[in-house]
Amino acid sequence: MRRFVIAGNWKMNKVLAQANALAQDVSAGVTALGEIDIVVCPPFVALAAVQAVLADSAVALGAQNMHWEAEGAYTGEVSPQMLRQLCSHVIIGHSERRGHFGETDEAVNRKVIAAIAHGLTPIVCVGETDAENRAGKTRDVIDRQTARALAGLPPQQAAAVILAYEPVWAIGTGRSAAPAQANATIGAVRDVIRRECGGATATATRILYGGSINPSVWPETIAQSEVDGGLVGGASLVAADFVALAEQTQEAATADSGDSAQVAG
Ligand code: PGA
Repeated sequence: MRRFVIAGNWKMNKVLAQANALAQDVSAGVTALGEIDIVVCPPFVALAAVQAVLADSAVALGAQNMHWEAEGAYTGEVSPQMLRQLCSHVIIGHSERRGHFGETDEAVNRKVIAAIAHGLTPIVCVGETDAENRAGKTRDVIDRQTARALAGLPPQQAAAVILAYEPVWAIGTGRSAAPAQANATIGAVRDVIRRECGGATATATRILYGGSINPSVWPETIAQSEVDGGLVGGASLVAADFVALAEQTQEAATADSGDSAQVAG
């Protein structure tokens, strides 16, 4: 069975003292939740401090972006070799990076390959815009983004990647995708992985949902058969909400463990 993941993307929020306090509160709130992976992704400048706060915690630490080169003349960038000393995960290809900063499928692919090479677990975001959704292009977009993100990775390495399906129209809008719709599109992402990397990789790969997750909508979504966890923005900035989401995720993971529909990963 695939181990569920709940990850908080703090985006460009929280100054140092606030980041430390939030990490402390999350860490204290999830001590009983040993059945799932819990990740927080603060801004770069808070990583070292939050690493210290989480030193004795099961909560893992992630970054929100990185460059693909190990070092060099790339002013303002942060490399995988730097991140490796601070954290275990890195979000790659978030729609805000793609949309505001022109990140291409090719750049996403380079970053994914570099993250794996440096021992970081990439959380790779895919998802269609509102216009693409209305034009019926959802499957085309997620097919292209998923296949290109994983291009060139041997199947075993591809299985270490965490995917996140985040419809752009659902991010920060309060319009979460309907659970059945999220499930169907995540199933389609898994089909692309099966075609590109084979059945064993498709079966093992965790695929998350993201987009306006909050504790009142999450139980129904995380109960879906294809959904292996969540990537949370706004609700991850409030410790009580993020802890509630982690508890709901653990409940779903525990309920699933006797479910024959879940396959060994
Ligand atoms: P949201 O953000 O939960 O605030 O919609 C999700 C994300 O961007 O990962």
